[in-house]
Amino acid sequence: MDKIVIEGGRRLEGTVRINGAKNAALPIMAACLLLNGPSRIKRIPNIDDIHTLSKILENLGGKINRHDDGMLEITFTDGENQDRFVAPYELVSKMRASICVLGPLLTKRQKAKVSYPGGCVIGQRPVDLHIKGIRALGAQVETTEGYITASADRLKGTELSLKGEHGTTVLGTCNVMSAAVLADGTTVIEDAAREPEVQDLAHFLNKAGAKISGIGGNTLTIEGVKELHGVDYEIIPDRIEAGTFIIAGAITKGNITLENVRAEHLTSVIDKLREIGVEISIIGNSIIVKSSNIYHPVDIATMPYPGMPTDMQAQFMALLCTVEGKSIITEMIFPDRFMHAAELRRMGADIRVEGSCAVIKGSPFLSGTNVQVSDLRAGAGLVLAGLVARGTTNVHRIYHLDRGYERLEERLSKLGAVIKRMNE
Ligand code: UD1
Repeated sequence: MDKIVIEGGRRLEGTVRINGAKNAALPIMAACLLLNGPSRIKRIPNIDDIHTLSKILENLGGKINRHDDGMLEITFTDGENQDRFVAPYELVSKMRASICVLGPLLTKRQKAKVSYPGGCVIGQRPVDLHIKGIRALGAQVETTEGYITASADRLKGTELSLKGEHGTTVLGTCNVMSAAVLADGTTVIEDAAREPEVQDLAHFLNKAGAKISGIGGNTLTIEGVKELHGVDYEIIPDRIEAGTFIIAGAITKGNITLENVRAEHLTSVIDKLREIGVEISIIGNSIIVKSSNIYHPVDIATMPYPGMPTDMQAQFMALLCTVEGKSIITEMIFPDRFMHAAELRRMGADIRVEGSCAVIKGSPFLSGTNVQVSDLRAGAGLVLAGLVARGTTNVHRIYHLDRGYERLEERLSKLGAVIKRMNE
């Protein structure tokens, strides 16, 4: 197993290019199941979650070629492999987002059997809204022996809401939208997720011949079509990777430039960083981060888009641990998503978690030590803390990080961090 070793205290300088968005790539790759003929999708990051989904799609009969420039060519052909409809436990257990094949498989092959994703360290992660959505479209759904099995000869358009206890659902919206594009008649999804990654999937499907309107709003209207064809498509830049690098610049009091960014997807993140005192300028597709010496504590509440992403919470926590004064983070999406707080405390941070709130008393100094990654974004938060901590930080269990960040340590090293990957 690998670990990342960081000597903290270096200011980051230079330019980093942001990859395509993992969370857009996954449902778009799954949606290729719906298409007849090859699609070429550009800017797919070379990360473990993409490899896992590629294996699932290959099991389902897809032909996948990766080009060196990050383009994936994915081909499904109508009428072939109709009898393959299973996403097995061995693969789904590696990545919860594998659930995104449920909608496309069901509508295209009339049957889908997807391993129940189960909970994870960031919370319970139920899939009741996914099931509610596809049932509303007329599917029979059973959950037995650890699998969700859904079947329907033909799905039928309907009106449904995806509102749950913690708001709407991102992948649930992707699943229901993907299922509805080939259904009979019109589907209206109320309380749909508005995340840029959901919008990207809708644009991809429309390019392939779907009829989805209301993209970017809470109500999506989908007129079913008979067939979809392969397309060339470039996915949006990863706003969470961008946010992570912005905070890497800010936490080290550095000056860095990010290229290939859509700043409009990062409004809540940029606004909060400006409130903290980080100077951020936007020029076309680039973001320039200039640090100041005085940062201010802030309060943050994670929210569905366009609010503060829960996937940026751990990174903000790392930064706020180094900002003198009291900050409060309230987690509205995954109330238990604070595993990183205990590890940051091992680095000397003063964090008190009460229910879904974390109260942080920041101080300029963290100290390097051994820490363990519990999930992808927690790992990003710990690496950021290591960049500024005094001494050496050993970040263990980095396989979580490799799920979502491509060569993170190499790219931070190019910006001047003293960071390397080592075998344990
Ligand atoms: C996606 C993202 C993940 C991000 C999350 C929230 C991908 C691959 N992953 O995950 O990085 O952290 O959105 O922005 O895109 N819920 C239910 N019932 C359901 C589904 C969800 O109650 O059927 C709850 C969840 O427990 C959570 C909230 O709804 O409290 C939001 O979850 P959801 O948007 O579904 O997250 P994912 O789509 O799994």
